[in-house]
Amino acid sequence: MDVLTALSNKSDYSRAQLQLIVSAWILSGLAEKQSKISLHDGDVAEDDYDKRSLYSLLYALYRSMGEVRDEKGERYEFTFNTWGYTWPEAWGPAPPHQQDPQRYGRNAYSGLYHFEQVKKYVAERNGQVHVVEMGCGTGAGAHHVCKNVLPDCTYEAVDMQSAAIRTCERKFVPDLPGRLQATCSDATHLARPRGFSDFVAVNETHVTELVGVVTDEDDRFFRKAHAMLKPGGFIVWGNAIPDPTWDACFGFLESIGFKLREQNDVTEEAVRARDEDKARIDVYVDQCIEAFHGFKIPGVGAKKRALADVALKNFARNPGTKLYQNMVDRTDTYRVVLLEKMR
Ligand SMILES: C[S@@+](CC[C@H](N)C(=O)[O-])C[C@H]1O[C@@H](n2cnc3c(N)ncnc32)[C@H](O)[C@@H]1O
Repeated sequence: MDVLTALSNKSDYSRAQLQLIVSAWILSGLAEKQSKISLHDGDVAEDDYDKRSLYSLLYALYRSMGEVRDEKGERYEFTFNTWGYTWPEAWGPAPPHQQDPQRYGRNAYSGLYHFEQVKKYVAERNGQVHVVEMGCGTGAGAHHVCKNVLPDCTYEAVDMQSAAIRTCERKFVPDLPGRLQATCSDATHLARPRGFSDFVAVNETHVTELVGVVTDEDDRFFRKAHAMLKPGGFIVWGNAIPDPTWDACFGFLESIGFKLREQNDVTEEAVRARDEDKARIDVYVDQCIEAFHGFKIPGVGAKKRALADVALKNFARNPGTKLYQNMVDRTDTYRVVLLEKMR
């Protein structure tokens, strides 16, 4: 069983199914010559995983763990699949929730709307704007924005992962009747009227990952954003991606009718967030690993436990991992950008 490629984004695996899947992955270690996961820093090569399988596993895991405790004993459900950043001083006072276990994720979503041009646009419409988020995960950020950032908006949260959208429907949609809609779809396949949305939000969505190139999927992703936006509407986009990929994307986006209005580099703040969040991630990963019996299988259990530990921490860009180091040495830079649809 290769959990990095074999799972389906259309499934929402139960805890019992996850126990079987994890045990099968552990036992497959008996015949494995070399692991795809680096034991040293959790690195997994792009070609060695399929994002549909990876996120299917992660969202089923988050849901099956339910409420957990952070390092201080505070209860929360892991719903922000977001690295985020500490609030940049230059942006003024930090938003509330700075004691929340998932505050860096909340900051990342608040940060998408910190631009003066965005605030003016929203104020001119008395707050009544529509947002489509492409790659919303569980919808935790969508809920945060509807509650705390754009309290009069309507919002469609879209993700290709069934398990994530089911969490959104269970946990967030009922709290925002008539305002938040959750849609399970590959965002590039959405069929929506042209020019109907004020904002397209893209927060750490797993696209634009290849160094210095705009892939076919990226091309379809941005063209879809363009089609859905009103003229004068905005893409608000934050992520840590390979540094040369930003310029490649900006060139492409300008070629299809966008203008780059502003960009802020928050890589330092993103590294600081990962440093400050390390204790919570360590405790969370321990709780996840303890929950799966297969890791107690003698011999191979311990080996796979170490791999699962470092892989989960790498996805969280925890200090000591490859993805963390990529931000420290600026192989990946975290930027928050504003693009306006001009034509
Ligand atoms: C790192 S997670 C971030 C999720 C969420 N934005 C957050 O910050 O918690 C990346 C997300 O991108 C989603 N994604 C990647 N490509 C997508 C696509 N083409 N359509 C919809 N979702 C996509 C994945 O399913 C995953 O949920």
